[in-house]
Amino acid sequence: MKRILFSLVLILCIPAGWAQDTPPGAAVATAHPLATQAGMEILQAGGNAFDAAVAISAVIGVVEPYGSGLGGGGFWLLHRNADGFQVMVDGREKAPGKAHRDMYLDAKDEVIAKASIDGPLAAAIPGAPAAMAHLARNYGRLPLQKSLAPAIKIAREGFPVDEHYRRFAAFRLDALRVDPSAAAIFLHQNEVPPLGYLLKQPDLARTLQSIADDGAADFYRGKLAKKLAAGVRAAGGIWDEADLRAYAVVERAPVVGSYRGMKFTLVPPPSSGGVALASMFNMLDNFMLAEMPRVDRIHLNIEVMRRAYRDRAEYLGDPDFVPVPVQRLTSDGYTNVLAADIKLDEATPSDALKPVPAGEGGGNNTTHFSVLDREGNRVAATLSINYPFGACFVVPGTGVLLNDEMDDFSAKPGAPNAYGLVGAEANAIAPGKRPLSSMSPTFLENDRGVAILGTPGGSRIITMVLLGALEFVRGGDAQAIVGLPRYHHQYLPDRVTYESGAFTAEEAGELSLRGHLVDTEGQSPYGNMQAIVWDKQKKTVSAASDSRGIGAAEVLFRAVDQMK
Ligand code: DON
Repeated sequence: MKRILFSLVLILCIPAGWAQDTPPGAAVATAHPLATQAGMEILQAGGNAFDAAVAISAVIGVVEPYGSGLGGGGFWLLHRNADGFQVMVDGREKAPGKAHRDMYLDAKDEVIAKASIDGPLAAAIPGAPAAMAHLARNYGRLPLQKSLAPAIKIAREGFPVDEHYRRFAAFRLDALRVDPSAAAIFLHQNEVPPLGYLLKQPDLARTLQSIADDGAADFYRGKLAKKLAAGVRAAGGIWDEADLRAYAVVERAPVVGSYRGMKFTLVPPPSSGGVALASMFNMLDNFMLAEMPRVDRIHLNIEVMRRAYRDRAEYLGDPDFVPVPVQRLTSDGYTNVLAADIKLDEATPSDALKPVPAGEGGGNNTTHFSVLDREGNRVAATLSINYPFGACFVVPGTGVLLNDEMDDFSAKPGAPNAYGLVGAEANAIAPGKRPLSSMSPTFLENDRGVAILGTPGGSRIITMVLLGALEFVRGGDAQAIVGLPRYHHQYLPDRVTYESGAFTAEEAGELSLRGHLVDTEGQSPYGNMQAIVWDKQKKTVSAASDSRGIGAAEVLFRAVDQMK
């Protein structure tokens, strides 16, 4: 039986004698070896998964400045094993007070190219520092001084530039050159730094130190806040100190439900991921996927993707500003109606669905990490500054590279953003509002065990998590989940993109015959998934970092740990 509940309900229903099961080892999977190492160090120093998450969030922002950082935000999905408590810590950026719905439109009402992507006007108020302090204060065991120490050290002493960094810096070279502060830090003599170049960020080290000292009070309310607001305004942005003072993390109840005996714990709005995934799982529950030929399964997955992304475009936005009908969109009744017109032998053209206009998306900036500690606590976190190197603007003297998350709003109903996503009124810009996100850190749980997963990838995040979850249902371990070749449909544009290896030539041919527009151009790899699977039956823990990236996964078994 399918059920979609808010975990609030679930929390109330937790039996008094919550069975506390613990894994045979701890595990960390992140997009960079230095972040994985920091997470492991913190676990070994007596920290729990939440402390490790603070350390990783900080380090990953230092070593993947193109993906996340203090100038950005994200979602941290938590599971506390002692009592089964689950929550999403919403550290998503918020639009500044002077933002308004038409701020990226010209006199003719056309979207001004790049206005929401490059420079300080593209930046929303960061949530990452507040979220890290919140995690440490409410869930961690170690002081911020300890959990932020690895990031401070790496920012001060530097890290060697890798190929991944160089690729993103080359992609954003023009924008990075525009801002002298960004160019001084992230380029070398105004060019992409050479491989192995030691990239030091002393200003960022000082800002991190201030967060370690006072839990982000200075960042949001002190001298640093003044400096951030003044620096943004001096460069043409619209931040006020009051915007920083008003920023607050929100704890939100996850979207939970089940699919074929697997319980899922997903992130609620302002992410679109949980609602879209729950909707897709529920639609798929109408079909006996396991008994179908592979090409039928692919066809059905594409059809549920199409329908869930249509609803994303119309209904989803910041729940603090617009009523988002989460329960209705994920209910059996509604998703059964959505699934009812899926034909097994024929694609439904997207324009046959109720219309919402649009474009496309992908990539692997942004970042995800997964943590499991020995007590069974879990963290799945996806963090972002949006586009590679965010707004390519560093507030002078702070080392803080700002996000361009304002682009995740719908600048104009129906106009696609950088990921080709369209939106409607629900995701229009308003002061203090959080832009709609696709980030989908996820927990899965069935008789076999537990999976912790997520990935960057813009609009494709949600479909990558869907395919990963279906692999978990089929019995795949962490490596199988991250290694899976991927395919994607997002309603508009009406076409299927896929990585080479996702379909055989016959399957691609069969999908075309059924009326799918199979995009043979878009075969380059995408995503950077980090997954952990605790197999309770085999009593094993597997962790894997996507080979499309440069990350690292480590498992620390009890025996090894006890030898220390
Ligand atoms: O929140 C979102 O949905 C986007 N800002 C995520 C961007 C992303 O994953 C970029 N990677 N390709």
